[in-house]
Parts: sequence; C-alpha cells; structure tokens
Amino acid sequence: MQPVRGVTVWFTGLSGAGKTTLAQAVAGRLKIANLKVEILDGDVMRQHLCKGLGFSDEDRIENIRRIGFVANLLSRNGIIVLVAAIAPYRHIRAELKQNIDNFIEVYVNAPPEICERRDVKGLYAKARAGLIPNFTGIDAVYEIPLAPDLECQTDRQTIAQSAAEVLQKLVALGYIPATCHLDDICPNA
Ligand code: ADX
Repeated sequence: MQPVRGVTVWFTGLSGAGKTTLAQAVAGRLKIANLKVEILDGDVMRQHLCKGLGFSDEDRIENIRRIGFVANLLSRNGIIVLVAAIAPYRHIRAELKQNIDNFIEVYVNAPPEICERRDVKGLYAKARAGLIPNFTGIDAVYEIPLAPDLECQTDRQTIAQSAAEVLQKLVALGYIPATCHLDDICPNA
C-alpha cells in the first residue's frame, strides 16, 4: 500500500482574504476522498491552545509557533493539516517552513481595500474607529509572501476555483494519492 504522507498547508493572508473559507472548501473535498484532514483556524486556536495571547508581535509569534507545533505533530502522522492563520511575518513563515517536515505556503491574496470592504466580522470598521489597535493591514504589518508555493487571488476567482488549485498542488506534490480521482472530488480541477 502507498504510504500516507501528511502535509501542513498554511493559508496566510489578511483578515477577510478568505483563508478559513478556502480551508473549509478544501477540507470538504478531501473528506469526500476519505483522506484524513484537520483544520487549525487562528480564531479557533485563540480560544483554546492560544487563549490569552493578543496581537503584539511577541504574542503573534507565540501564537504561530504553537499552531505550527501542533500542525507538525498531526502532519507527520499522515494528516493533511489546513492552517488558516494570518502569520504576518516572513521570518516566522520561513521558520515554519524549516521546522515542519512537509510544508506548503498558500498566499490567500485579496487586496486590502477589498478585505476591508468585505469586513465579514466587522473588525476593520472597529479598527478604523480605533477600537482594535494593531490590526493587520491597518496599523499592523502584513508582509506579503515573496515566493509562496501557491497564490490564490480570491477577489478574481471563486472559492471553488481556488480550492481546485490547492487540490491540484497537493496532487502534483504527491500528497493526494494517485488512486484518488481528482475529477470526483473536485469538479472544477
Ligand atoms: S496571527 O497574526 O497571530 O497569525 P490569527 O490568524 O491567529 O493572527 O488571528 C487573526 C484573527 O483574529 C482575525 O481573523 C480576526 O478575526 C481576529 N483579530 C482580532 N484582533 C486582531 C488584530 N489586531 N489583527 C488581526 N486580526 C485580529
């Protein structure tokens, strides 16, 4: 039998770029194919493993390191781990890449003004009103990935199209076994 290879797929991007939505779409397709998948979402992790951490540089780095630690534990045991967390700094993403055995960086790219216009959680408005300091893209930095493994432009394509790109990448890199028929799990691929 083909050995199962786990992988960590880290969706990085601004709040409102579509990281969680994309991770959920990909997870849904992988589950149809009976593959083991887990989502680690920044918002959810901050209620549990990362509870008490804020949004200073230090706290974000700690948050990302903890999520990365768990992602590595899971992915080295054959699970496809989909992380949806901003991870705004290049150096911390480089550290993740170095420390996690199988790591794919996906830049979920929507322009800042579009993310702000979407304002799915109403946080941009609060940040503009000065109610949320250190808000990524407003008064806290987001360092754009220079060489991501994949870039999904969520303002130009549907989530289904972006999900298809991620799945194609996983197939190309051998993380989805050839015995899985991509057409079945992903009609848009
Ligand atoms: S990270 O920078 O440490 O990687 P993470 O992805 O865990 O961030 O959390 C980001 C989420 O926290 C956002 O999607 C948003 O819902 C919420 N949030 C609350 N305050 C902030 C803030 N100051 N900057 C960015 N996101 C914030």
